Amino acid sequence: MPTHELSGTTALVTGASRGFGRAIAIALTKHGAHVAGVARDRTRLEELRAQLGDTFTPVAADAADAADAVVAGQLLDKHRPRTLVLNAGAAPLPRPVHRHTWPTFSRNWEADVQHVFNWTREALLLPPDEPGSVVIASSSGAAVNGSPLSGGYAGAKATIRFIASYAADESARNALGIRVTSVLPQLTPETDLGAAGVAAYAARQGAGIRAFLNGRGPALTPEQVGTAIAGIITGSADDRDAYLRTAAGLSPVQ
Ligand SMILES: NC(=O)c1ccc[n+]([C@@H]2O[C@H](COP(=O)([O-])OP(=O)(O)OC[C@H]3O[C@@H](n4cnc5c(N)ncnc54)[C@H](OP(=O)(O)O)[C@@H]3O)[C@@H](O)[C@H]2O)c1
Repeated sequence: MPTHELSGTTALVTGASRGFGRAIAIALTKHGAHVAGVARDRTRLEELRAQLGDTFTPVAADAADAADAVVAGQLLDKHRPRTLVLNAGAAPLPRPVHRHTWPTFSRNWEADVQHVFNWTREALLLPPDEPGSVVIASSSGAAVNGSPLSGGYAGAKATIRFIASYAADESARNALGIRVTSVLPQLTPETDLGAAGVAAYAARQGAGIRAFLNGRGPALTPEQVGTAIAGIITGSADDRDAYLRTAAGLSPVQ
């Protein structure tokens, strides 16, 4: 049963229009936080607003903001979140490496890595208003295992884990009081991004999607990711540099 430990605090979640980010936004509101949800699809954000009411503020914006990198600073100034969840991510093109072009190979660097870099940098530059500030970045199990049908995705997600780790170190060195960590979810068919990956790996094995999934055990759900993120923020999870998230729970990355 969620508690209201986050009452009176604001969380900002990127990629809140669907998938994991939507579930994270819902989980954090259940813990009492006010959530500002960032994504480009205004209609889906408004649908979430209709579901969650005043506890959710939709913010239609490009979180990667490749053009001039001001979105992160502007939204942090405006919302002053105690919690920042950097979950937005582009869907990789599901093809083997030789069927990528450089723009498709680097897609997750331009979107996912650029967004985590911009927002983490701005979070370190803006002194928190109150203690207990947390930044959580979405990496991936692919950062450990590789992802041969996703171009530069696995390397991008490994870099996100490094950025979070470097930022945690800088926060400690400069006594900023900001906890920075990353979460590495396992591949799951339960989101748009994950479903495309599962279909590609199943096809490569010459298996149907159901047969492919049967060999992998229970699928991670967006709700489980939301619960895990809420647990890290509220302190019910041990403090770690990075966490793996599978359907079985959270575990430290070795
Ligand atoms: N599903 C998996 O199996 C899996 C496994 C490991 C890690 N992950 C990671 O978990 C995160 C969430 O993935 P998901 O499976 O929930 O994907 P998803 O269902 O495709 O949702 C992706 C979210 O990111 C948002 N987004 C993408 N680019 C954006 C941008 N430039 N600015 C703002 N928002 C942007 C999308 O919103 P708009 O399109 O409305 O902007 C959407 O809300 C990603 O970082 C992904 O790499 C997923």
